[in-house]
Amino acid sequence: MNYRHAFHAGNFADILKHLVLAKCVEHLNAKPKPYRYIDTHSGIGGYDLAGDEAARSPEWKDGIGRLINAELPDAVESLLAPYLGIIRDMNEGDTLRHYPGSPEIATRLMREGDRLHLCELHPQDSETLDARYKRDKRVKVEQRDGYKALKSLVPPPEKRGLVLIDPPFEDKDELAHMAEAVMAALDKWPTGTFVFWRSLKNLWAADRFDNGLAEWLISEKQLAPEKILRADLWIRDLASEGKLAGAGVVVINPPWTLEEKLTAGLPWIADTLAQGDGYGWRVDGALTDEDLEDLAD
Ligand SMILES: C[S@@+](CC[C@H](N)C(=O)[O-])C[C@H]1O[C@@H](n2cnc3c(N)ncnc32)[C@H](O)[C@@H]1O
Repeated sequence: MNYRHAFHAGNFADILKHLVLAKCVEHLNAKPKPYRYIDTHSGIGGYDLAGDEAARSPEWKDGIGRLINAELPDAVESLLAPYLGIIRDMNEGDTLRHYPGSPEIATRLMREGDRLHLCELHPQDSETLDARYKRDKRVKVEQRDGYKALKSLVPPPEKRGLVLIDPPFEDKDELAHMAEAVMAALDKWPTGTFVFWRSLKNLWAADRFDNGLAEWLISEKQLAPEKILRADLWIRDLASEGKLAGAGVVVINPPWTLEEKLTAGLPWIADTLAQGDGYGWRVDGALTDEDLEDLAD
């Protein structure tokens, strides 16, 4: 386990993942009934953008650094409000030093009666995470394999909630592990909201994964197609050499307004975060019956 999120915190991929997470939590807050947030790969909860790792790999400068003080069109403001609000609260004035990890976004938006279960396998990171939240009675931190934990954590007693699966992709079979974990968890908890992050090295590989999962969900689980949403962002041509150029999220049982909000806000975000020609974005719901037939051919 060599992956350290501190090198990447606040980059374009974090922005898309974290804004979607904040929107899903905001949606759950719309009803008074308590809910649970499960983070299978939590990281350390917060990142110092002036720290060693961020200094060596300042990806945040072309990520959150470009957004935080920008003048936002209304559609973008509405999409980013809960996410940027947290970052502003964590920092003084216009200076950007602290960036929230997924557990911090969740803890800051969730209410007193809601609960969080955070898994982090790396011993030191898990200790850091535990220390960060040990006074927060809503939070349980476990040093445990998030995929294995997920099986025993769903359905949560509250029956409402959200799972974030955000692995480091160090393992070449990570997509398969992720699909397996989601399928097993959905079997036990078909109404939970699941957000999972995946890199976008090429549209074809991502399509194969997304379509395979969508096909299983629709045909085996009778999930309505509109219950699957995918959003991707790429900041330069995906075929270009070098660092990660694209990433996205797949959301199962998404808030019903999310697709429309992402479609309205992502074009501006893509323009603002672009680092070269060939950048882009896409937001789409699940496959139609026709797509599935094409896929089967
Ligand atoms: C991409 S980072 C998570 C970032 C975090 N979700 C966020 O958005 O702030 C992935 C994390 O998963 C941890 N990890 C790797 N394999 C794991 C596993 N099987 N179970 C739980 N955590 C794992 C890594 O140590 C790393 O901290």
